[in-house]
Amino acid sequence: MSSLRAVKGMNDVLPEDIGRWRRVERAFWDTVARYGYGEVRTPIVEPTELFVRGIGEVTDIVEKEMYTFVDKGEHSLTMRPEGTASAVRAYLQHSVGARSPVTKWAYLGPMFRRERPARGRYRQFWQAGVEVFGDPGPFVDAEMIDMIVGLLAELGVEDLEVLVNCLGTGDTRARYLEALVAYLTPRASELSADSQRRLTTNPLRVLDSKAPQDQAVVAEAPEILAYLADEDRGHFDLLQETLTALGTPFRVEARLVRGLDYYDRTLFEIRGRGGELGAQNTLCGGGRYDGLVEQLGGSATPGIGFAMGLERIMLAMSGDDAPPAPDAFVVVTSPEQRTDAATLLKALRGAGIAADADLRGGSTKSQFRRADKSGAAVAIVIGPDEAKAGTAQVKDLRRGEQREVARAEVAAEVRRIGEAE
Ligand code: HAM
Repeated sequence: MSSLRAVKGMNDVLPEDIGRWRRVERAFWDTVARYGYGEVRTPIVEPTELFVRGIGEVTDIVEKEMYTFVDKGEHSLTMRPEGTASAVRAYLQHSVGARSPVTKWAYLGPMFRRERPARGRYRQFWQAGVEVFGDPGPFVDAEMIDMIVGLLAELGVEDLEVLVNCLGTGDTRARYLEALVAYLTPRASELSADSQRRLTTNPLRVLDSKAPQDQAVVAEAPEILAYLADEDRGHFDLLQETLTALGTPFRVEARLVRGLDYYDRTLFEIRGRGGELGAQNTLCGGGRYDGLVEQLGGSATPGIGFAMGLERIMLAMSGDDAPPAPDAFVVVTSPEQRTDAATLLKALRGAGIAADADLRGGSTKSQFRRADKSGAAVAIVIGPDEAKAGTAQVKDLRRGEQREVARAEVAAEVRRIGEAE
């Protein structure tokens, strides 16, 4: 084994594992297309300032987890830790809001966070997500949650828990923060060093601290739902009503806060309990960010979105994803037929057939072994006789039957056998 290894927490995906990736990606794109989302692709690297301003200076991501570097032009750049800030940046940069009152975007790609690697937690991980700009909800909020639950069910991810909360806006937040700080301040000495510092800089963050001593204090903290202003309460009630009407089970979790500062009002998280998921069981998180577009320099535009971690979804998925076998495997009975085989392979592939061969010069027997191992349903055998006659022997490897057919008929014969499977 070479001493060169991938960066810790960053993974290769080999062809034998790609089936599951493809299945998730296909299901995601099929689903979002049905819901009217268009794909957006943004750069993997952005100016550092975008994430500092978008995600929030006093968050775990910005304080500890970003891959930030200075490029040769002395610009501070960061490998994107998430997709929302980039989507908002692109939405503003291209004046998308001026073209249409509501914009629905979907994306899928790698994200980077320097977290402690563990099962389901990586430093390069993949997210699929969506963002909706211009719709204040709450119906689109409910639709989004319901869409994700449907997608996960389609992928065989069962035993889910949908948690929802409402973080309120301006007034609600101010009154709640006051109560939270009043509760936490006398208990400051029981908190972790990080939380003690955040108590003055960003008290809401104390609520999603992972430190056990913080969690003990947080368990008794006041709940934001008791502080909701009437409009927030109305929004949250309608969200719940709509989720119920759509048949999506959910649980209100009043202490749910998430690690990004841009959220307000609707907040949700979907957790899995099955499959090979361990402690990293948050499959997907999202929420409303009605202030973010304005905060990044645009006009007031409501927004909501979510992202799901593909590796975690795959750990929770059921079903078999064997890599696809070729339709046909070409075998030559003498090495002189290898050029002939190369042209036959090209013709088959041109006709839309997945065809493979082993033309290194081994025995017919070893080529048949490779054909079996490949999982192909058909072997196409050519030797000097077939070359002279302009034919090929087409062998159905499952039934053992063999037919000699003209070269022009080989593709059709392979298809006929494949369809009879
Ligand atoms: P997030 O909660 O930070 O939200 O990440 C969303 C999902 O990405 C998580 O639920 C998890 O499945 C996956 N994930 C996060 N970090 C890791 C990691 N280190 N390794 C593996 N998977 C991970 C966001 O990123 C928001 N941008 C979501 C959003 C979109 N909110 C509104 N719009």
